[in-house]
Amino acid sequence: MLRVGIVGASGYGGMELLRILAGHKEVSVEYVSGNHESDEDLAQEYPFLGSYQGLKIRKYDLQECIEACDSVFVALPSGSSGAIAGQLWRAGKRVIDLSGDLRLPQPLYESWYEKKAVDQDILDAAVYGLCEWHADAIASASLIANPGCFATATLLALLPAVRAGLLQESKVVMVDAKSGVSGAGKAVAPARQLAELADNFYPYRVGKHQHTPEIERELSPEFAVQVLLTTQLLPIARGIAVSCYIPLKDGVSFADAYSVYADRYSDTPFVRVLGKGSVPQLKHVRGSNETHISVHVDERTRTLQVFSVLDNLQKGAAGQAVQNLNLMNGWPETTGLLTPALYP
Ligand SMILES: NC(=O)c1ccc[n+]([C@@H]2O[C@H](COP(=O)([O-])OP(=O)(O)OC[C@H]3O[C@@H](n4cnc5c(N)ncnc54)[C@H](OP(=O)(O)O)[C@@H]3O)[C@@H](O)[C@H]2O)c1
Repeated sequence: MLRVGIVGASGYGGMELLRILAGHKEVSVEYVSGNHESDEDLAQEYPFLGSYQGLKIRKYDLQECIEACDSVFVALPSGSSGAIAGQLWRAGKRVIDLSGDLRLPQPLYESWYEKKAVDQDILDAAVYGLCEWHADAIASASLIANPGCFATATLLALLPAVRAGLLQESKVVMVDAKSGVSGAGKAVAPARQLAELADNFYPYRVGKHQHTPEIERELSPEFAVQVLLTTQLLPIARGIAVSCYIPLKDGVSFADAYSVYADRYSDTPFVRVLGKGSVPQLKHVRGSNETHISVHVDERTRTLQVFSVLDNLQKGAAGQAVQNLNLMNGWPETTGLLTPALYP
């Protein structure tokens, strides 16, 4: 069994990792930490994690973590996460970081996150863990920058069209994205109280969402494709729904576009391209590691509409992180991840 640790285990991403790893036959969770120390077993503190008897949340300590684990998931707020991931990686551990700290070059990170970036050697070692597009690099990586939740939903929706050259050059791609409130983590804030969220819906971080450069860099290392990303808050616990509007090149039909997507994702276990006329729904992915995508061509405006949905804590965070761990260890990509969505 691989000995695994979770730094940030008491956060939403960390708890989802624990939920997934409870059913993973290749790993044993040996170390869980947060920013506090707990007297209770995980099974008592979080009753839905009943199988974790005898494991307590410890205040994070580098040396303890190094001694207890072979591989570590680091799921801390951006600004703290990447430096800790880097220390563990320098100590010889294989590390998957769920934050935004390792996803961007230093100047871009510092301007979009308004925080100091980690050292260059750490960034150089980090492989961007979008599993469906970088499986070979992930398999030989020792440090993974796990992609952001909006970025994953958007990139899985846009990359086939961009790589196949379906979009008109020099046009901006519009991305209208919505997230459930667990995307912001468990910290208490007035805007995330029930009375504010319920029956409500509005955009946030307009013009400055930090996943914008992550998406643009992955679409084109030369930043040749611009994305206008609008993120909005849904009054639900989990789920991301993204609608992309791609100005379509002359002569491209629905059949052309559909076959690009269906072919690209035909043998990926977690990305499903739905048939003509279907639209993806959050309830079909909630609690699972799946992303559902559908494509439509609006002939009147010559726009390719691509819709994609995923669970922000699964394929948008912990699920994809475990998928990365599987690829890094040569295990079947689906190990521990085949739970179907919680429906209805
Ligand atoms: N939530 C999502 O949907 C999502 C999706 C993709 C990526 N992410 C990324 O994943 C990371 C974790 O997100 P989250 O939603 O799980 O956050 P969260 O719910 O706020 O949890 C944060 C975790 O970090 C711990 N922590 C905070 N500061 C620490 C420090 N200085 N030293 C040690 N531990 C510390 C907290 O411990 P205590 O419990 O003791 O406070 C908690 O365990 C973030 O970088 C986020 O951007 C989240």
